[in-house]
Amino acid sequence: MAEPLLEVRDLVKHFPLPHTLLDAALRRRPETVRAVDGVSFTLGRGNTLGLVGESGCGKSTLGRCILRLYDADRGEVRFDGVDLMQVTEGELLPYRRRIQVVFQDPYASLNPRQTVAKTLLEVLDVHRIGSPRERGSRVAQLLTQVGLSPGDGHKYPGEFSGGQRQRVGIARALALEPELLIADEPLSALDVSIQAQILQLLLDLRASLGLTMIFISHDLRVVRYLSDDVAVMYLGKIVERAPTAELFARPQHPYTIALLSAVPEVGGAGREEIPIEGEPPSAVRIPRGCRFHPRCPWKTARCLQESPDLKGILPGHTVACHVAEARLAAGGSPT
Ligand SMILES: Nc1ncnc2c1ncn2[C@@H]1O[C@H](COP(=O)(O)OP(=O)(O)OP(=O)(O)O)[C@@H](O)[C@H]1O
Ligand SMILES: [Mg+2]
Repeated sequence: MAEPLLEVRDLVKHFPLPHTLLDAALRRRPETVRAVDGVSFTLGRGNTLGLVGESGCGKSTLGRCILRLYDADRGEVRFDGVDLMQVTEGELLPYRRRIQVVFQDPYASLNPRQTVAKTLLEVLDVHRIGSPRERGSRVAQLLTQVGLSPGDGHKYPGEFSGGQRQRVGIARALALEPELLIADEPLSALDVSIQAQILQLLLDLRASLGLTMIFISHDLRVVRYLSDDVAVMYLGKIVERAPTAELFARPQHPYTIALLSAVPEVGGAGREEIPIEGEPPSAVRIPRGCRFHPRCPWKTARCLQESPDLKGILPGHTVACHVAEARLAAGGSPT
């Protein structure tokens, strides 16, 4: 693998729920949402990691912890060798420059009362990039780079279409020439016809700027198209990770197989299918043992008791499943 740009170790982020009357009556501490519950992975420079999993499994929270938009409870987020968790707020600015984000809904993250040029200028000002004069031409260059015209800088976010607004969101993320871009469902608020254009824009920029990317998406077809590796999250943990072609050809975790089964276009011919049943359980009451066991067709007595660790089973391929591991050890593949 390429030299790691990002190394996340045992990252945990829990959100305490408000104190309820029941908590008071039982004299217990308020319950917590275990949004990110021990996540570890590395990401090589210039690589793209696709991050998939059902709604509420912790993808955005993980992204926000890496961006230090949330302070994780514990763990390490080592970026270019420096643990960002140990960096004080005052020393974060250079890292905020090097790690940027594109959100699902750029409208929510753009100031509606400010022209787009002003928004972009502000970003350059905060980070003291170039002289004021250079900043003006950098804004024009950024708008052009994302397929808008320099004249669009005079417009307010509300005057753009959804696709154009996402282009502005991307321009803002690129203004600081980041090394790592976290794209959190950047296409899902857009019309299907526009999605392909924005996807192509991201791919072009990734190639020309050599970006390292975490691409969070529900759309397995897009993830397969643009990721070098895919990580599958379930209830706050990564349950499988593999190079993209390998993951789609030989998924090992029953949850991954279930996710792929739900999208016939990405299923391999003759591969085992698992229907995904039931609602995702709450991240407040995470089942004992393997957190997937209540929905798992393969579960054994061990799965009810013992949480499986993420283990390397094939080159570059890790999985957290007692049964998948046992099947492979027995020489069979579950798929
Ligand atoms: N600021 C917050 N305060 C309290 N709970 C939160 C907060 N942010 C997220 N959560 C909870 O943490 C869990 C993970 O949420 P998160 O937004 O990370 O999921 P996600 O995988 O990004 O989902 P989606 O695919 O719907 O975007 C959910 O149960 C969510 O309700
Ligand atoms: Mg999300």
